[in-house]
Formats: sequence, structure tokens, C-alpha cells
Amino acid sequence: MLPAAAIAASAGAAALAQGTPTGPDRVAFPAGFEKDFVLYNVTDRFDTKRARHHFINREALAKAEPGKPLPDGTILVMQDHEVELDAAGAPVLDGRGRMKPTGKTGNVGVMEKRAGWGQAIPAALRNGDWDYASYLAGGQRNPNVRNQDSCFTCHLSRADRDWTFVAYRNVIDGIPKP
Ligand code: HEC
Repeated sequence: MLPAAAIAASAGAAALAQGTPTGPDRVAFPAGFEKDFVLYNVTDRFDTKRARHHFINREALAKAEPGKPLPDGTILVMQDHEVELDAAGAPVLDGRGRMKPTGKTGNVGVMEKRAGWGQAIPAALRNGDWDYASYLAGGQRNPNVRNQDSCFTCHLSRADRDWTFVAYRNVIDGIPKP
């Protein structure tokens, strides 16, 4: 009989030999993010007729510094919101020209950064130590996203902004911290 620690260690080695988990196997659905994370941005998308709410975990926001990459352990969440549409199918806007979310939410995209995670990603796709996952509103894996290649490929264009689009502008460039 092997001691439990040795069994655990050999199981870990076997898992690594079969390939390090990536995507939703390690980027978990951040349950409770609407309450626990900080909403740092809302983007009205006229092309897809929905609003996107962007959240960051509090620990990362506290450590984020202007002009520097986001800290290890950052989790960014992008949540789709359905919006009110008029009879012609166009988004209804409020007095400030913003879309009006109905309260019904859609897909949740997550990007998370952990030291060393990039090593499991092919060099041509690698986004530093970020990895990605897409979930349905309730936290189930998004069956339409079979792998994360498109996430890596598109976010590659932002290599000089820590592979982010909105977060760098709103968080690192100086959003006031709550
Ligand atoms: C075709 C390009 C493209 C693809 C593919 C793509 N993204 Fe993005 N991503 C963007 C753009 C543009 C934004 C910012 C605009 C927005 O919010 O709609 C963004 C924003 C994000 C954000 C908000 C954080 C930030 O500051 O950028 C997350 C999280 C995110 N994407 C996750 C994902 C995940 C997960 C996938 C794969 C399932 C993915 N993205 C695929 C272009 C892309």
C-alpha cells in the first residue's frame, strides 16, 4: 500500500503526462461574481443588441497599478445582458443614451491569469499566463465553445495591453477604486 500522499503525487504526475488541464478545466465559473466582484464597465453593443457587464475580482483590483500588467490571480468576467428592443427591433435607450438591460442575462466569458498557466498553451496562441472559458448564464459550460483557440487568437491583438480590451482601459489606466 502506498501512503495517500504518494498516491496523490503519482495521480498528479499521470494527469500532467496526459496534458495539463486548460480552459474550463481550470478557469472555473466564478460563482457569486455579481455580488463579490467589482463592476468596472458596461459596454453597449449595437452590433449584437446587448449590453456587456465587465467585472474584476476585488483582490486583483486592489493590487492593480496604472501602467502595469494585471496582477497574478486576476479574474475578469464578461456577462451578456439582453436589452429592451422597440417594435422595429432597435435597442431602447434611456435619457443618457444607454441601453436598458431587461435583467435576463446570457453567456459569461471568463479570463483568468495564474503564474505558469501559459506553459500549457502553444506558443503561437499564448496570451502570457491568461486562460479562458465560456459559460452559460447558470454556470454550465458553453457547449458552443469547444476550445479556447478563438479567445486566444483574438485577444492576441492586445498583447501590449496585457491581452485585455476593456480592463486595461478602465482598470489599469485609472478607474477610481471603490
Ligand atoms: C473576435 C474577437 C474576440 C474573440 C474571438 C473573443 N474576444 Fe473577448 N473580447 C473581445 C473584445 C473586442 C472585447 C471588448 C469589447 C466587449 O466587451 O464586447 C473583449 C472582452 C473580453 C473580456 C473582458 C475583459 C477585457 O478587458 O477584455 C473577457 C473576459 C473576454 N473578452 C473573454 C473572452 C473569452 C472567454 C473568449 C472565448 C470564448 C473571447 N473573449 C473571445 C474580442 C474577442
